[in-house]
Amino acid sequence: MIDTLTIALSKGRILEQTLPLLATAGLPPEEDVQHTRKLIVNGPKIENTQVRFLVLRAADVCTYVEQGAADMGIAGRDLLLEHQPHVFEPLDLQIGRCRMCICGPRELVERGKPETGSRIRVATKYDNLTRQYYLEHGIHAEVIHLYGSMELAPLVGMADRIVDIVETGSTLKANGLVEETTLFDISSRLIVNPASAATKQKLIHPIVQTLRAALQSA
Ligand code: PRP
Repeated sequence: MIDTLTIALSKGRILEQTLPLLATAGLPPEEDVQHTRKLIVNGPKIENTQVRFLVLRAADVCTYVEQGAADMGIAGRDLLLEHQPHVFEPLDLQIGRCRMCICGPRELVERGKPETGSRIRVATKYDNLTRQYYLEHGIHAEVIHLYGSMELAPLVGMADRIVDIVETGSTLKANGLVEETTLFDISSRLIVNPASAATKQKLIHPIVQTLRAALQSA
């Protein structure tokens, strides 16, 4: 019987940077994962194991790996901190680098940070991180959940600030927003389902080692 090793990949901006890493690990997808509409794409066969890739929305990678539907995956630190999945995180892949920031309209940010005890409205897709940050700082934050284009919320008066990832800063600039506080740096991590780490150790361990060596020599 043929075994499978299933790897969950994030669609979008980090997929392009993921492909050279997969090639380094000897795991090139058989098809162009950036453009195919297929959700499962085969990779190579390693002895008796068929490698396959799931091409997912970034926010779903943690779920597939935590549930064991994928053995491994590539997920941003932002999503790992937000959702706290029960997965191993053996490697910082050093791709998808950006930062999590609190941002707002320039005039508001120039007036200073909100005072302890004040009330603000914050638009984000990182509800947990946002609540936790403002709770720690004694500020009553009403969190408004959005799925994308957070920068719009302050422009139409729906929120005072946003908590979102910033990479080049061009989206902020184009919308008249500035960074108020940098919360933490982000990069993509290799994640592994704990049960798979045990049962498929002979397959997963060499992949992790190869990637680690490649990252150290880069
Ligand atoms: C992300 C993020 C910002 C933007 C930051 O959005 O939410 O909007 O990228 O990048 P920049 O600093 O290089 O401009 P993304 O394009 O992934 O789409 P989304 O708004 O749908 O999440």
